[in-house]
This record gives sequence, C-alpha cells and structure tokens, in this order.
Amino acid sequence: MRDRRFGRDRKPGRWWLNNDPVATAWHNALSATFPRGEAFFIEAVKAHRDGAPPRLEAEIRAFVRQEINHTREHVVFNKAAVDAGYDLARIDKRVEDMLALTKGRPPIVNLAATMALEHYTAMIAHEFLANPAHFAGAEPETAAMWRWHATEEIEHKGVAYDTWLHATKDWSRWQRWKVKSLLMAIVTKNFIGRRVDDTLDLLAQDGLTGARWKWKLAAYLLWQPGMLRRIFPAWLAYFAPGFHPWNHDDRVLIGKHGSEFAAAVQG
Ligand SMILES: [Fe+2]
Ligand SMILES: [Fe+2]
Repeated sequence: MRDRRFGRDRKPGRWWLNNDPVATAWHNALSATFPRGEAFFIEAVKAHRDGAPPRLEAEIRAFVRQEINHTREHVVFNKAAVDAGYDLARIDKRVEDMLALTKGRPPIVNLAATMALEHYTAMIAHEFLANPAHFAGAEPETAAMWRWHATEEIEHKGVAYDTWLHATKDWSRWQRWKVKSLLMAIVTKNFIGRRVDDTLDLLAQDGLTGARWKWKLAAYLLWQPGMLRRIFPAWLAYFAPGFHPWNHDDRVLIGKHGSEFAAAVQG
C-alpha cells in the first residue's frame, strides 16, 4: 500500500470523473498544483528538521518521502491530462509565481502556510475516503490513485502541525494563534480563489464558459457532492484553542496497523 504506481498502462480519459467536465476540471486543477505545492511543503517542513526531537525528525523524513511519491504519481496524472488535450501551463505558471513570493519570507511563515494547506489536504482526504460520492463513476485506477494519496495525507496529517508546535515552543499561545489563524485566512482566500479560477480555465478549454458553468461549479463545490460545504466544520475547528489535526480521529478510514507515523496507527 505504501509506495504505489498508477496509470502507467491505462490513461484516464478526458472526462475521467463520471464523464462530468466540472468534477474532472476541479480535480485536474488540484492535481496541476501538487508537484510545485508539495515541493514547497517539503522545503517548509524540512527547514525545521534539525534539532527536532528524534521521533519528530523521523516523521519529517517519512513525510518528505511520502510527498515525493505523491508528486511522482501526480506528474504522471498531469501528463495524462495534457495528453487528453488540456493545457496546464497557465495554472503551473500561476503556482510558480505564487511560490516565488514565498522565497524571501521567514521560514516560520512558510511553515504556517504549509500547515494550513496540510489541513486542507487532510480535510479533503477525509471527505474522499468517507464519502463515496466524490469518485462515483470515476475511472477506477485514477480513483485508486487519489484514494492512495488521500490515505497518506491522513496518515501524515499531524507532521506539519507538530513541526510548528516544536518550532514555536517559546511563543505565547496568543502569538501562535495569531500567526496560524492569519495564515489560514490568507491560504483559504488564495487556495479557493485560485483553484476556482484554474477550474474555470480548464472548463473554458472544453468550450464551457459563462454564468451557467460558474453556477454548475458552485453547485458542485457547495451543494452536491459539496466538498467545500462538507469540510467547513473541520475548517472552523482549526481556529479553536487546543486544535490538533489528530483531535479528529479518523484512523479507521485509513486502517493502518503499522505506520511510520505513530498517531496514525489504529489501536
Ligand atoms: Fe501529498
Ligand atoms: Fe501532505
């Protein structure tokens, strides 16, 4: 289950997700951002590895290995989307420009952004595994790839947060809360706004434009299956005092009886 390869023999079709252009475009847009995004997460977490307690240091190393594997599979997936006729270059450029802004920032700010984005991936991963509606009618191997990624995102969901708790151990609670909440607000605005723009970009490549398709995308995200509506309570929990990703115990979804991440192991 750990390191797997998908889609080497069979490629997903153009509308691989239930023959639905909106659902397909949303997931293609997400995937297009992963290679650069995950590289950013790796750097942000690794910057705080030295001097971490041995268990956290080992988990950071395991986190890095998992994210590298995810990127490898999403590179293959993204190539298949290009082969199916989509141009991902604009999306890639927007992500590149966005990440260029993070270069001169204090490492702790990049860690706080990573932690917010890892909360997004954990929330979305939980939905993917808990609710079969998201991949109903999907090309099976492609759905398996997304579920594999989702499983590992839940498995390592505590690592960026634990790294933050370690890196800010001398901060006051208020200072910690202020920085993590501010970064979550910024990340939310950028992440949702840009993924919607990217999805509309891909839909336009299918000739699907105008208010009707914006409405369909809003209904897809907010109503049925309603990913953004469903993750809202978990998003809100991030701002609560004493938040930790593992306060939400969803180990049963990933069924790990052995793991490099102690918190992920099912008792
Ligand atoms: Fe990942
Ligand atoms: Fe991750």
